[in-house]
Amino acid sequence: MRIISPSLLAANFKNISEDIKKVESAGADRLHLDVMDGNFVPSITFGPMIVSAINECTDCHLETHLMIQKPHKSLDQYIKAGSDTIIIHTEASTNPKEDLLYIRKNNVYAGIALNPYTDENCLLPILDYLDYILIMSVVPGKGGQSFIKSTLNKMENIVQMTKDRNITIGVDGGVNLDTISKVYDTGIDITIVGSALFKSDNISQRYQDLMNA
Ligand code: DX5
Ligand code: ZN
Repeated sequence: MRIISPSLLAANFKNISEDIKKVESAGADRLHLDVMDGNFVPSITFGPMIVSAINECTDCHLETHLMIQKPHKSLDQYIKAGSDTIIIHTEASTNPKEDLLYIRKNNVYAGIALNPYTDENCLLPILDYLDYILIMSVVPGKGGQSFIKSTLNKMENIVQMTKDRNITIGVDGGVNLDTISKVYDTGIDITIVGSALFKSDNISQRYQDLMNA
């Protein structure tokens, strides 16, 4: 089964609800929200106020990808804003286990993201606290980058590592018509697609093409 989670980073923020409707009618039932703090990554995007506004435009499952340093300081705000899944970065958290437990305690799915060059074995001690693993296939910080092929091997390893567990695996960055089938072949569950979807002239057709690639 293939699941695409559109990354709104590449959508038109002048009229975000319009782009959300387009991907919903194409079949999307989840959305990926990229929060950047200008510290963990150089860029700044948006915060909880925008997550909350997006939550009011849609019934989609909202996965909030926190590219922020010391995420524990802001978890409450993203929980309150209506996130269904919150993803912290293992490289940014001072205590991933505690953060994940806190997210779950608030009835939100708990996820961790891993940068392309971070060793996946760092997941072993926290597997019990995870609902979601986001494998970065680009260095986080901006959309439209090229897919890093060496992460395909990491995807296979993480699929093996989690095979007897109920953990969803997502892949984020550089997923497009050329790379998507290689990514699904590794056995992961969800691909995040930003520019390859929203920069198309026909978003609905592109969504179908990505599903069938
Ligand atoms: C990168 C973000 C991604 C990004 C994906 O820092 O986490 O979610 O928006 O965009 P594309 O699909 O354009 O690589
Ligand atoms: Zn992301």
